[in-house]
Amino acid sequence: MGKLDGKVAIITGAAQGMGEAHVRRFVTEGAKVALTDLNEERGQQIANELGDQVLFVKHDVTSLADWKRVVSEVEEHFGAPVTVLVNNAGIIGPVVPTVDFDEDDYLKVVAVNQHSQFYGMKTVIPSMQKAGGGTVVNISSTAGMVSIVGAPNLAYVGSKFASRGMTKHVAIQYGPDNIRVNSVHPGYIKTPMMAAATDEDGGGIADVVPIRRMAEPDEVSKLVLFLASEDSSYISGMEHVIDGGLTAS
Ligand SMILES: NC(=O)c1ccc[n+]([C@@H]2O[C@H](COP(=O)([O-])OP(=O)(O)OC[C@H]3O[C@@H](n4cnc5c(N)ncnc54)[C@H](O)[C@@H]3O)[C@@H](O)[C@H]2O)c1
Repeated sequence: MGKLDGKVAIITGAAQGMGEAHVRRFVTEGAKVALTDLNEERGQQIANELGDQVLFVKHDVTSLADWKRVVSEVEEHFGAPVTVLVNNAGIIGPVVPTVDFDEDDYLKVVAVNQHSQFYGMKTVIPSMQKAGGGTVVNISSTAGMVSIVGAPNLAYVGSKFASRGMTKHVAIQYGPDNIRVNSVHPGYIKTPMMAAATDEDGGGIADVVPIRRMAEPDEVSKLVLFLASEDSSYISGMEHVIDGGLTAS
């Protein structure tokens, strides 16, 4: 028996990196999964590989209209309300000091990392209410806990702190509806995003992590699965850091 049998999940930004790993783990645990992303080719390829349990839906998470379309498409396709939402899509934006940071870049980072999580909760919570409950996992970052040296820019840090704050607000509001909301704060994870931000060996990043390595995406998927499943039935409104000890000091 899978830990997510009977669940319908939406995972955003899931055509690569951690989102893709979450889709693969959720499928092995019995969930029906809507894999959403801007990247149609790669998203569809993963869905084809994984079979009937997965539906690819093209989705720009910065558009509320898109969210409305995605939720109704997913409900109709799987014939059931959505009971798990993983707000995973995110971007870093340019690594630039604040006074040189372009306004459009600022707005884009905040739209993808923060507004998307508002739109996701706004449109999916009514579906969870129909089902009698659900779980939301908002992907933040260690940059949503502390502004570590080397954090890419103020928009990234600000939007990831916002994710953590919105998580708490919504968890309090919808707890009585049997909806749990948690945030996840990864450290350095081996994904295309991280590869694009560093050189081939990670730019010596592993040296600053107490356990001396970056994580595989699936190590984060195990935490996301825990929070999405009944294993975490009494955990809500909390931040869950997964960083190999990075922010312990
Ligand atoms: N990689 C890390 O070390 C790390 C650390 C902390 C937090 N995070 C966070 O984890 C999440 C996943 O990161 P990743 O490293 O797997 O990233 P990634 O860049 O490898 O994958 C992100 C995916 O999001 C999609 N995406 C981007 N903009 C979108 C939009 N507007 N609408 C829909 N999809 C969109 C991309 O197409 C891509 O498939 C992000 O929120 C990121 O900020 C990553």
